[in-house]
Amino acid sequence: MPRSARIDCSMNDDTPRKRRSVAINHFATSRLTAEQLREDHLADLVALHRDAEVSRYLGGVRTPEVTKAYLAANMAHWNQHGFGLWTLRTKDGAFAGRAGIRHIVMENVDEVEIFYAFKGEFWGRGFASEIATALTGIGLSQLALPSLIGIVNVGNGASRRVLEKSNYLLERITSHHGEEVAIYRIPQ
Ligand SMILES: CC(C)(COP(=O)(O)OP(=O)(O)OC[C@H]1O[C@@H](n2cnc3c(N)ncnc32)[C@H](O)[C@@H]1OP(=O)(O)O)[C@@H](O)C(=O)NCCC(=O)NCCS
Repeated sequence: MPRSARIDCSMNDDTPRKRRSVAINHFATSRLTAEQLREDHLADLVALHRDAEVSRYLGGVRTPEVTKAYLAANMAHWNQHGFGLWTLRTKDGAFAGRAGIRHIVMENVDEVEIFYAFKGEFWGRGFASEIATALTGIGLSQLALPSLIGIVNVGNGASRRVLEKSNYLLERITSHHGEEVAIYRIPQ
């Protein structure tokens, strides 16, 4: 049965036994809104994945068919784990990109990573740092995950900087799907 995307979490307040339910299907940062992935986000994702600059460190441009499979896999992740990929919009409703928290097997270890990608017109404005901080808070506090990682092509200086600004520490450099990647981890 699919797990609910509503998470019960203990609150660190004056009444520690009090629990409250925190919805993560939708959330907002100061400049972005995040919506749980839906079928009707396909067109925005297809356009994002066809952009060569955006896709440079994401394995290259993807056909609409590959993005359709990507959407299905990420919707299945939500059903299985109660978290996954969100689409991101600016407060005026414009599609800005996507970001998420997902399980990934790295060197035979089941890890949970944060990931993000924005349309080029939104780069350089601090959006990725804003969403990385929000995802990290959700992962560690609301989902109570023991650890989070970021996996970045070693040449992707902007993404490495985003993780560093979000307090992730460089753990190791390794090979993943034939690419040299840096693994960053946030201390709990
Ligand atoms: C990587 C990406 C998410 C960054 O998004 P962004 O919103 O521009 O990031 P931010 O503005 O929050 O922060 C970027 C930081 O990297 C720095 N930076 C930019 N280009 C850089 C480079 N080539 N080398 C080192 N640092 C760089 C910026 O100066 C900024 O740091 P600062 O705030 O200290 O000045 C965006 O470029 C993107 O969507 N790329 C395509 C998808 C992708 O590669 N996703 C990551 C996969 S791991």
